[in-house]
Amino acid sequence: MAEIIIVNTEDEAAELYGRTVADLIQNKPNAVLGLATGSSPLLAYEHLADIIKNEHIDVSNVQGFALDEYLGLPLEHEQSYHSTIRRTVTEPLGLNPQYVHAPGDVLNGAPLSNGDLIAKAGPDYDDAIDKAGGIDVQILGIGTDGHVGFNEPGSSLSSGTRVKTLTEQTRIDNMRFFDNDLNQVPTHCITQGIGTIMRARHVILLAFGANKAQAVADAVEGGISSFCPASALQMHKHATVIVDRDAASKLQLADYYRWVYANKPDWQKL
Ligand code: F6R
Repeated sequence: MAEIIIVNTEDEAAELYGRTVADLIQNKPNAVLGLATGSSPLLAYEHLADIIKNEHIDVSNVQGFALDEYLGLPLEHEQSYHSTIRRTVTEPLGLNPQYVHAPGDVLNGAPLSNGDLIAKAGPDYDDAIDKAGGIDVQILGIGTDGHVGFNEPGSSLSSGTRVKTLTEQTRIDNMRFFDNDLNQVPTHCITQGIGTIMRARHVILLAFGANKAQAVADAVEGGISSFCPASALQMHKHATVIVDRDAASKLQLADYYRWVYANKPDWQKL
């Protein structure tokens, strides 16, 4: 794991992400962004949108690839990740919607029984990422069970984009988006694999709150294991983990990470 940054507020984390991505786009106008949904990245997207607006950054050639999508939800469903990314990223950042993709875009709510279509969607998505030049910065949240994307415990650490079955814990965690009704939460998803995520040139994982503390400790300081898929990031050449104090509360080397960050040379960016 390259760097662990313990921040005081979610806002500080959002600033770090916003500045990093804004600088990237200024240097590389056709940058490719890997996009997560869920609560963790929301402030980071807002901050990036503010910088883009205030500094008049041209984003007309920026491309985006969402991490995952529920299976069985039509694209226009307000909780589909296609719609969520439109609402929270594409529109506020002013990206060209033609350049922003989610792995379920070709499925549009197709039922799980539509094997031919669904099986092809994963490898096609990985090909599309490669054709775009690969992901420059992938933002990630982490599930309370250690998932990244929707790679649940037991996921192959070299997997490509494919169908996965959500754990009950993940479905309960996400019930808040579905009227607190577990029956409405889809059971299956299509997600970038751990292998796909590992090919991103820079990975920034955000985690906030005490309910993420164990998953963060397992990911950062535990052994590399498919039991905690996020632990694969220990093998990534450029992974940045930004956590608040609560999410960092189970890290054994928290004081050391704080010291490292406080004494980081100015020339070293994120
Ligand atoms: C979302 C995703 C998930 C979430 C994770 C944390 O696209 O891939 O891995 O990042 O479930 O969700 P939040 O941020 O809502 O706690």
